[in-house]
Amino acid sequence: MSTEVFARGFAHALFCGLLFVMAAPVSAQSRAPEQAAVASAHPLATQAGIEILEAGGNAFDAAVAVTATLAVVEPYGSGIGGGGFYLLHQARDGRQIMLDARETAPADARQTHYLRQGELDRDLSLNSAYAAGIPGTPAALEHLAKHYGKLPLAQTLAPAIRHAREGFEANDRYRMLAGFRLEQLRTQPQAAAIFLKDNEVPPPGHRIVQSDLATTLEIIADQGAAGFYLGELGERLVRAVADVGGVWSRNDLVGYRVIEREPIVIRYRNMRMVSASPPSSGGIVAGQALQILEQFDLDRFDSVTRKHVIVEALRQAYRDRAAYLGDPDFIQIPVQRLLDHEYTAGLADKIQLDSATPSTSLGVDFHQSGLGGDTTHFSILDGEGNRVAATLSINYPFGTGIVAGDTGILLNNELDDFALKPRTPNVYGLIGDEANKLEPGKRPLSSMTPTFLETDDKIAILGTPGGSRIISMVLLAALEFYRGGLPRDWVAAARFHHQFLPDEIQHEPGALSAYEQAGLQYLGHTLKDIGRQYGDMQAILWHKPTNLVFAASDPRGEGSVEILQIREAGK
Ligand code: DON
Repeated sequence: MSTEVFARGFAHALFCGLLFVMAAPVSAQSRAPEQAAVASAHPLATQAGIEILEAGGNAFDAAVAVTATLAVVEPYGSGIGGGGFYLLHQARDGRQIMLDARETAPADARQTHYLRQGELDRDLSLNSAYAAGIPGTPAALEHLAKHYGKLPLAQTLAPAIRHAREGFEANDRYRMLAGFRLEQLRTQPQAAAIFLKDNEVPPPGHRIVQSDLATTLEIIADQGAAGFYLGELGERLVRAVADVGGVWSRNDLVGYRVIEREPIVIRYRNMRMVSASPPSSGGIVAGQALQILEQFDLDRFDSVTRKHVIVEALRQAYRDRAAYLGDPDFIQIPVQRLLDHEYTAGLADKIQLDSATPSTSLGVDFHQSGLGGDTTHFSILDGEGNRVAATLSINYPFGTGIVAGDTGILLNNELDDFALKPRTPNVYGLIGDEANKLEPGKRPLSSMTPTFLETDDKIAILGTPGGSRIISMVLLAALEFYRGGLPRDWVAAARFHHQFLPDEIQHEPGALSAYEQAGLQYLGHTLKDIGRQYGDMQAILWHKPTNLVFAASDPRGEGSVEILQIREAGK
């Protein structure tokens, strides 16, 4: 099915024309959707999710299948050697959980591993085995299956195993990202043999076969997470990492745990945003920005002032990110204060409508509080109303580019997300200090922001890759959702971003009109056209009064959505 399944004329007219005059019938509040939907960054992963739903699995089973398939067919984005965050909604009891499957720093990781002559060395923090955190994804697969799913891993991992064994065709995105990491992949014989052809970017349609990864997935299908962390596979992994100079130990693997955490929940007028909590910064930063924006009547503004105020809200929220956020098991994060309405109203008061606030004038109160491209996203809704929003990563495209021995597993370079050197930007230009310093067993601060948006009559499930820009993309989508748009509008909307430092509005080509550019510059903003589009948002909308489900995959990517009719309308 195409990415435009929602574009049935009548549905669109109904949705746009009637949405805000139609009161949701009481029965609409509780009934389950008549359609299920999967939106992911690769058609084979979307199909895998649908296959599992058709076989009687629920959204959580489908999430296992989609995760594992993406790990195979988007080797540049996420993987069995990576981690991420799953936002779950269990329809049965309304429980909402964030499953934290973020990688941890090995016990022997040291800041000095990433420095050369006292300076942060990007090659060490991105391309060496030191960059790799202990993977969380295998533990997440088992946790989802055991605690939320209905089907065995042997069934839900089957599509991924098939694609790893039989191969998948290199598409444009694959070729673009393999080209981006060509130099590093060429230095790694195992990786080059799998992901390149004759040491070059494979031609379009070339099949990428991953037999070792298929075997690794079979071990997990058979033995669960124990097969990965505790068994012979774990031993091979530790040896392979040591062979390329890394410092993983058996204890690091044995000790890895996924953690169920409370999501961040904030209100913006009549909308609830449920989003990722630390060690992701996503929910707090997007939440703070929304609460700041609530102090303004955005729809009253001309487009320059609207964008100016959004940028100023982002500036404030990313500033607090740099100062306060990190792994909550290692530092105290003043979550309540950061999301306190009086506090965010105070931040809103500092915003001047007629001029940009230089980031340097805000300063960052590091310490003194005393408190403390590539990645992927998919969204799933099933016929019971269960939901999953998951953003998963191995960080930079193809992670470190290092395949661990004969496991088929690409090592992530997620440890670059730590503030490896205080106040020195990471690869996404993000700064941090104490709160996000490297420590054994700690999880690096993330920007991944799987999110639900909820009003009385609408539910959205969304997220995107994009490094530090993830949070501003989700914020812009939330504002579009609030204005009544459809997923296809949110995923396609032109993007702009500010992250406190560097003090500039980064934007996609064409995202700001000449009038807006002139207006924002007049207000004192520096603009930076980053010369390419970014993000790969996957979004689903369930409109309860009509019981229609809409879904869209970002036109910038190669993803797809499929909608499955569960039962006839009204049944
Ligand atoms: O966790 C994070 O914030 C990053 N490792 C995510 C990286 C990412 O989204 C790259 N995508 N283009």
